[in-house]
Amino acid sequence: MHDPGIYALIQLMPTVLRPPSWALWAAATALDDLADQPDAKQTERAARVEAWTHALQRDLAAGASTDPVRHALVDTSLRWHLDLSSLQGAMTSTLDDVRGRHLTDWAAWRSWCNEGIAPWVDQVLHLFERAGVPMTLRLDRQQDYRRFIDGAQLTDTLTDLSADLAQGLLLLPQEALQTYPRAEEDLRQRRWSPATAALIRELTALAREWLTRPAMTTGMHPGAATVLDTAASLMRAQLDAVDAAGPTLLKHAPHPSLIARARVLAPARLRSSLAWSLTPLALPGPRRPSVTASDPSLAADDTAFRPPPAHPSGAVPPQIAAEQMPFHVAIIMDGNGRWAQQHGLPRPQGHRAGTAAVHEMVYGALEIGLRHLTLYAFSTENWKRDAEEITTILEAIRRDLDAGPLRDLDVRQRWSGHPDKLPQELVQALMREERRTRTRTGLTLTVCINYGGREEITRTAAALAQAAQAGDIDPHLIGEDDFTRHMPQPDMPNVDLLWRTGNEQRTSNFLPWHATYAELHFTPDYWPDVDRRDLWHALTTYCRRSRRYGNAARVPGPPGS
Ligand code: IPE
Ligand code: IPE
Ligand code: MG
Repeated sequence: MHDPGIYALIQLMPTVLRPPSWALWAAATALDDLADQPDAKQTERAARVEAWTHALQRDLAAGASTDPVRHALVDTSLRWHLDLSSLQGAMTSTLDDVRGRHLTDWAAWRSWCNEGIAPWVDQVLHLFERAGVPMTLRLDRQQDYRRFIDGAQLTDTLTDLSADLAQGLLLLPQEALQTYPRAEEDLRQRRWSPATAALIRELTALAREWLTRPAMTTGMHPGAATVLDTAASLMRAQLDAVDAAGPTLLKHAPHPSLIARARVLAPARLRSSLAWSLTPLALPGPRRPSVTASDPSLAADDTAFRPPPAHPSGAVPPQIAAEQMPFHVAIIMDGNGRWAQQHGLPRPQGHRAGTAAVHEMVYGALEIGLRHLTLYAFSTENWKRDAEEITTILEAIRRDLDAGPLRDLDVRQRWSGHPDKLPQELVQALMREERRTRTRTGLTLTVCINYGGREEITRTAAALAQAAQAGDIDPHLIGEDDFTRHMPQPDMPNVDLLWRTGNEQRTSNFLPWHATYAELHFTPDYWPDVDRRDLWHALTTYCRRSRRYGNAARVPGPPGS
């Protein structure tokens, strides 16, 4: 974190973006320092990280801080209209680091990176967007970008090995440590041995491979590409220093020589200053008054969610025993077109009318305490429709996201589907809501847009093939769990109840992997005519089903048996 390389990288950015980038870097560093203080006990360090995070929430609400680092961050967020809610996850992750981590495999290690580092880097990407630079990574390059972040994290972990070990931390996955028996013990004892040397060699090679993502910057603005390419080159120089360090790696952090650094930075400075001199940049508008006023998700008391509005009829949810409640309900929202026809309206009107039913389902799900609700809004097959109808469907979704009627409910919103062909503004709105709500714990609402079950399975198979090719997974040992872990939404639970409205009895390419054992429920009403009472009815119907998963039916015995 204190790496002078980061300072040099920020100098490659356009002048206007440097202060906000410094503010983000300073905040990340301050938190890291609190987490790493060698003089304090673990509980003390955790308390300091927690106090800093809470103070930031208060400062964001107030629009100012007495602490210079937090003040710079608050000011940056207001000036550049940054939504810092995604950093909450990163801060909680820092807290967990202090308390000690047990990282079983690379998948667990990767999700640790995603929580801890990615939100900070994402903020820098937002800054570029706000300044009007086309830094936005092509969506089909997101995998490369995430891999690159993994590479950065692994480089950082290897660099900080001695400091972490001094605190009893070994932030590497068991899966990697086990490849070299004794390596873990030797590292913990800070003993340089053939096993540790071989492990470090393997890890630096892995990090180098992850950092080398030529496709990531293809087509990007040359200034932005220079920043990312230089970051990769600096980290590779850092890895050379790790390799060259030998036994001293366990005593102090290695650093590349000034010459090695200059070799990377001198041409990068020339390239970037030329690129930025040719690019007009947008300056941020006036500073926003305060964050809480415009973004309730950042309010200090994150538990103060609005309850869902009651149904106009006064209906209340039925009592369902916890063990009978489905965990995950998925709905095929069908019949908008026929509803419009029935009312003498053009088809697009039916899609607009369907939005109210979506809100109703969320309210009903919250009221009854459902954990996962997944809605099929637009399939990969729906591109066959008229351009006007497609535009209406996608526009209705984006407008609803912008209006944000679900924003202050305890709902974590996310989407599933392929980003290709979707309008950029829609994808951005979806990603924004995902970031804003990622720490919510009430209902997880997944909206499937440009979703196709076969596409999802094909994409997963491709991800597995890539993992096998990269040597991350042994193709002979691939099991169902590995498949699930490589899916675009690895934590999507199995569907318990699959409900389709609109009087059709088919699943139309919806969640084939997850719904293999779902109870099916088909109803005749068109989607705009349903409300939360229909959801509750579906749930009570579900309770009467007997789910056997291939077991023999249990024959009821005599009383008392
Ligand atoms: C479902 O309603 C919404 C989408 C498929 C996007 P439809 O538009 O399929 O309505 P019907 O089936 O034609 O009535
Ligand atoms: C399924 O409905 C897709 C969505 C509800 C988004 P469709 O109306 O497109 O499905 P088919 O064509 O009747 O199978
Ligand atoms: Mg239909």
